[in-house]
Amino acid sequence: MAVPFIITIDGPAGVGKSTLAQRLADHFKIAYLDTGAMFRATAWKLGEDSWDWDSSKIETALKSFSFTLSGSGSNSVLSLNGTALTNDIRTETVGMWASNVAKIPAVRVFQKIAQREIGNTTSLIAEGRDMGTVIFPQAPCKFFLDADLEERARRRFSQLEEMGKPANLTELIEQIGARDDQDRNRKEAPLKAADDAIIVDTTKLDIDGVFKKLVAEVKKISA
Ligand code: DC
Repeated sequence: MAVPFIITIDGPAGVGKSTLAQRLADHFKIAYLDTGAMFRATAWKLGEDSWDWDSSKIETALKSFSFTLSGSGSNSVLSLNGTALTNDIRTETVGMWASNVAKIPAVRVFQKIAQREIGNTTSLIAEGRDMGTVIFPQAPCKFFLDADLEERARRRFSQLEEMGKPANLTELIEQIGARDDQDRNRKEAPLKAADDAIIVDTTKLDIDGVFKKLVAEVKKISA
């Protein structure tokens, strides 16, 4: 594999990107970059309603932010200003805050620079919304995962339960649907598949089946 070797996984909320990205990162012994967590941490740190701030205030705040990635596979650790991100940012409320700040051009420019800096030196499985289209368009291996909204909400429901963060399935369907609409329809780097991405509909597939398919595709491309 070329170094650094980048595999991108994009797709809507709750599609299983994180689980698959971590398994792939373990399998290929490379780092896992969760860019959704970078947007979540940014929104969390800027604070509620920051998406209504004027752009110079946001730019000033972002100057004090520094993301780093250490470790490998599912043990990869993403930190903001030296502090590892925790599950506090994993709620659907913070997901919506993240989607709100992700529309701000200054935030996207900042994230692009931070994410590329990490990818310049480290082989990665990079997961997000615009990894294959905007951040790592040169990546040799790109996936776009999709699944029906109800199925994605069910998966997110189980994930949140496992984290001890109880949720309501009907509310989740509404929240995830609204977040996806916002992510798909924004002007800057909207959620969409790269022209050269391999698209996988995971609605009726189990995680092991999808994982095997992705590993086979990566091996084919990197052979
Ligand atoms: O993957 P996630 O659910 O943790 O992402 C939270 C939000 O962050 C998502 O709704 C939109 C934004 N995001 C983005 O705009 N671009 C990315 N590459 C990753 C996430």
